[in-house]
Formats: sequence, C-alpha cells, structure tokens
Amino acid sequence: MTTCYINGKYKPLSQSTVSITDRGYQFSDGVYEVIAVFKNEFVDFKLHLNRLFVSLKKMDIKINLNENQIESITKKIKKINQLEMGIVYIQITRGDQNPREHKYSNNLKPNIVIYSIFKNFEYLNKLAQKGVKTSLYPDVRWQRSDIKSISLLGNVLAANHAKKNKSHEAVLFDKRNMITEGNSSSIWIIKKNKCITHPLNFRILKGCTRHKLISILKKNKFKFEEKKFSIKSLLNADEAFMTSATNFIMPIIKVDKHTISNGKPGLNTLKFRSLFINAI
Ligand code: PDD
Repeated sequence: MTTCYINGKYKPLSQSTVSITDRGYQFSDGVYEVIAVFKNEFVDFKLHLNRLFVSLKKMDIKINLNENQIESITKKIKKINQLEMGIVYIQITRGDQNPREHKYSNNLKPNIVIYSIFKNFEYLNKLAQKGVKTSLYPDVRWQRSDIKSISLLGNVLAANHAKKNKSHEAVLFDKRNMITEGNSSSIWIIKKNKCITHPLNFRILKGCTRHKLISILKKNKFKFEEKKFSIKSLLNADEAFMTSATNFIMPIIKVDKHTISNGKPGLNTLKFRSLFINAI
C-alpha cells in the first residue's frame, strides 16, 4: 500500500481524492515535479524543489508551505513508503473552485499531493547499454513549456505516437524543423566532440538533469553549446542522447527508421552516464 500526502494528511493512495471542482481536473491548472530516488538517495532534490517554486510563481499559485516544509513532507513520504528506488511525485493545483470559471479567485486553497512510485532504474541501466529508439513528432504543445505544468496533452500525444512506433521517447520538432526537446526529456547531440542542446527559453523545460550534466561537462572540460539544432543535424549526429529524472542519460541509437552513427550507444554518452551516476 502506497501512502500519499494530501492537504496535510497521510492516507492510502487509493483513498486520496480531490473534488471534481479542482482546477487541476477542470483546467489542468497546476504544476508538478518528478524527483528520482536512486540507491536510497534523492537525485538533484534541491534543483527540483527550486523548479517547483519557480513553476508556482510563474503560474501565480500561492501555497502556505515553504521549500523546507515541502522537502520534509517529501522525505517523510519516501520513508513511510520505504522507497529505495523510484520517484516521488509532487502535484500542486490551484485548488477547488465552484462554480467553474476560467478566471480564478484569489482565495483558493491549493490541493497539494505528494506520493511515491517504485521504478526499476536497474532495468534502465541495461537499456542504456543497448540504447533506445525514438520517433519524431511535431511540437504541438502550448507556448510556455518552461513551466512544469500538468497541462501535458501535447506530450501525451507525442509519447503515444512513440509507443505505437515501439519507441522509447518522442523527439519534438518545431515549425522550422528544429528539435525542441523530448516528450518528457531534454534532447542532446554530439558533433565533432561538442555537446549541443536547445537553449533555455519558453519552448523547453529547464531540465534538472540537463543542468547537472552541464556542470559535469564543464568540470570535465568537454565542449558544449546551447543552440538550436535541426532534425537533419540530429540524424547526422556522431552521438545523440536524452536526459531526464527518470532516464538519467540515455543513448539514442535510432530516430524512426534512421540509425544514428553506427547504431551503438555513443562512447561519450556512456561516459557521461557513468559520470552522472557517480555524481548522484
Ligand atoms: N519529465 N522536458 C520535459 C517536457 C519533461 O517533462 C522533462 C521531465 C524534462 C527533463 O527534466 P528533468 O531532467 O528535470 O527530469 C524535459 C519528467 C521526468 C516527467 O514528466 O515524468
């Protein structure tokens, strides 16, 4: 039985409910975070907490808990659920509003939910030795992908397109055929020993794994650049990979029918993956 924190109480997940007047349910008016737990430790905890509060601010959602309080509830959930590997999921919506109205009232009480999900990261380690297939999909999301909002329809469509094509992830491209990010990851290429990923702006999420990898690249004096790259550059890359809290660093060996380089996980990518795992 999984225990869930919901608005000040700890309850079995199956009994943790919100009203259908919740603005998250009605308008997807809320934000979330996914924090990995690996070898019994949180991965990049502070980065995720920090981004949660940035998302809340951007959405003008005010909660009566501070970062330290969210941190201790999150730690308590991990402890109660004895989670040694997996993720802790945090979701905060603007709260219940009845009658339904697009314009939000200022005195709503946000619904705060925190629970954990077991996830087998050891399996992902094996997958990383083989690399994954991805599928291209147009980036049909709204224009504020920098906010980690629960408004994920564009991502859901993309992910299910990937699933139909037996791909691990969808790689999103914009109207100019430039890669933005994955359906739930940051996308990278390596060309001539330089790592390239989309610059931070409204079009992509500021990935915590992305952030951590950049510091690893700097430390190891590996060249990198934040700049847009095209579908063509992805297909012609020496190496390609994705980063996220749930995949860490995952080599991409195929994009639809196209094979990247020699079809094997890139050596730099695998090196970055082990540097990342050592660092967490
Ligand atoms: N997604 N871009 C998008 C659209 C994402 O949803 C995610 C993460 C990332 C990578 O961010 P990070 O490195 O902080 O995990 C980039 C999580 C895993 C999810 O929604 O399940």
